[in-house]
Amino acid sequence: MHSRKGSYGYSLYRSKVQVRWFGSALIVSVTLLLFLRTEFTFWILPRPPRFPSSQTSCPTSPPYPSIIPPPHGRFSWRNVTQHYPVKTFAELPASRKKKLPQVQFDFEQGEPPLYHELMRKRRQAAVKTTFERSWKAYKEHAWKQDELLPISGGSKTTFGGWGATLVDGLDTLWVMGLRDEFHQAVQAVTEIDFAPGDGELNMFETTIRYLGGLLAAYDLTDCKDSRLLEKAMELGDMIYMSFDTPTRMPITRWSAKKAAAGEEQSAAAQGIIAELASFSLEFTRLSQLTGDMRYYDAVKRVTVVLAAQQNSTKIPGLWPVGINVQKPDLTRDNLFSLGTMADSAYEYLGKTYQLLQSTGAATSQYANMYTSAMDAVIAHLLFRPKTPDNADILMPAALRIDTHGTITLDHTAQHLVCFAGGMLALGSKLLGNASHLDYGRKVTDACIWSYMHAPNGIMPEVFRMTPCPTHESCEYDEETSQRQQFPGFERVIDARYMLRPEAIESLFYMYRITGERRYQDVAWSMFEAIERRTRTGLANAAIRDVTLKSELELEDSMESFWMAETLKYFYLIFSEPELLSLDEWVFNTEAHPFRLST
Ligand SMILES: *[C@@H]1O[C@H](CO)[C@@H](O)[C@H](O)[C@H]1NC(C)=O
Ligand SMILES: *[C@@H]1O[C@H](CO)[C@@H](O)[C@H](O)[C@H]1NC(C)=O
Ligand SMILES: *[C@@H]1O[C@H](CO)[C@@H](O)[C@H](O)[C@H]1NC(C)=O
Repeated sequence: MHSRKGSYGYSLYRSKVQVRWFGSALIVSVTLLLFLRTEFTFWILPRPPRFPSSQTSCPTSPPYPSIIPPPHGRFSWRNVTQHYPVKTFAELPASRKKKLPQVQFDFEQGEPPLYHELMRKRRQAAVKTTFERSWKAYKEHAWKQDELLPISGGSKTTFGGWGATLVDGLDTLWVMGLRDEFHQAVQAVTEIDFAPGDGELNMFETTIRYLGGLLAAYDLTDCKDSRLLEKAMELGDMIYMSFDTPTRMPITRWSAKKAAAGEEQSAAAQGIIAELASFSLEFTRLSQLTGDMRYYDAVKRVTVVLAAQQNSTKIPGLWPVGINVQKPDLTRDNLFSLGTMADSAYEYLGKTYQLLQSTGAATSQYANMYTSAMDAVIAHLLFRPKTPDNADILMPAALRIDTHGTITLDHTAQHLVCFAGGMLALGSKLLGNASHLDYGRKVTDACIWSYMHAPNGIMPEVFRMTPCPTHESCEYDEETSQRQQFPGFERVIDARYMLRPEAIESLFYMYRITGERRYQDVAWSMFEAIERRTRTGLANAAIRDVTLKSELELEDSMESFWMAETLKYFYLIFSEPELLSLDEWVFNTEAHPFRLST
């Protein structure tokens, strides 16, 4: 055996011929290198990073042989021995590319009026200014920390301490054209070490914020800045270790330290559906980019379980919020929802179908699961709230079913559930069901309604509404009015606004899919209300109670999704529709765009 270094060494007793040969080889390679550099420096900085040096754009099919991360001095999760290693890996569907239906509205027809273009650009610039201000504050006060405290100027660790805001916000820098900031941020990202640390990690958040952020930034550089893929692989290898259980179901709250020490951990007996079922987009993209099938294999195993049990739950088509990941048994619990703790499990079905875009059973499985789930959502979860203006809107509820099979709806609206409008609209195009666009529109309109009629123009986190008996119009009578805290809002349960993105997310989808400019106008009112009410001396902060008439009290908190999602979607709804077109990109649940390989 000889060391790696040894294999590059050469004999001290070289002949003159060898020296000459070596010299000319050197000249040729230096010339070649210079040539490549000049051609590509225009594109991306330090070239050539270590691998894959020949890559000039994103791969259209998974690299073969697969890309292996170059040696580095940091902790390597690849080297940790697994207890339950996989013997054969499922492969990405290799069958023919499937041409998906067009998602975006045909914006070519009809130039927008000039005044509209001017207004759009002014609004977009305002969003960018807000972003730049928040980023500057993060850089000055909390650089490489997870979160900035936007009032006190301190910082806090919330998601592993690897700089959640830095990684989450990376791709927004690129999207907004802040290239110098982007390159500076990528440099900082290269210094992250995903070595095992103390505490329990939320693998769902780690995946959607960090891995999603790295993959999207890499995709945005058109796969030229390989430092980002290296980082994504380092992190992907860590996340992959959390699937090391007898059933290969993931440990969603996971101790890296225990894993590194070889200690076994088990998957949750009392887990959450969103945390089990929201790896598929990130891991599929990671396999597409590296050719390493371990990641795709890991999510495929989860998908098989989801599919097998989807029709055996108490509401066939839907999975309950609470599940046993260890067994795995997803059929016992009786609470169903599209909101918190469930949301992205559904969102990722249609989106993974879009990302795979191939013919074949493995891909259509995602489409079938999505269709079954949405049929159940439409049949059971949507309700029409009673509003003074008799608005034609639909809000997703939570559902409980008792042991006798009696269904009770909990007519509680959540800001988090507002993503569903966009999901339904996207799904309607991908799978060709026009009625879903209608549902998507009404769900989006319910969130718009909540913003426009809340006391300060901002929707609260959680509140109860009063249901109409059916989806048809119903009377807003005196009795209803008496019962409600504010017209339309029966009772506000959690009055915070945490700088969340879900409402603007759905507006963005509706605008890009229907081309209706009213969504831009509503987005602008929302942006103005949010910016005015959340602005601090440094950046923007969560609001404690959006229902107060007096001065609103702020919380010293700015989650990383403010710059990763909320401001990105506000920016994109005012951008030219070709920027991150929904026909070329798919967004993960943290607003990180992945390139659809075509
Ligand atoms: C991982 O293992 C490989 C091969 O055994 C070794 O060359 C490398 O140095 C190890 N890396 C780390 C960071 O431990
Ligand atoms: C579940 O039921 C639906 C509707 O009956 C059906 O279309 C779907 O194929 C079933 N799914 C599975 C995995 O059997
Ligand atoms: C469209 O979706 C609705 C509601 O989910 C469903 O009832 C209907 O069968 C679907 N139509 C088609 C053509 O698939």
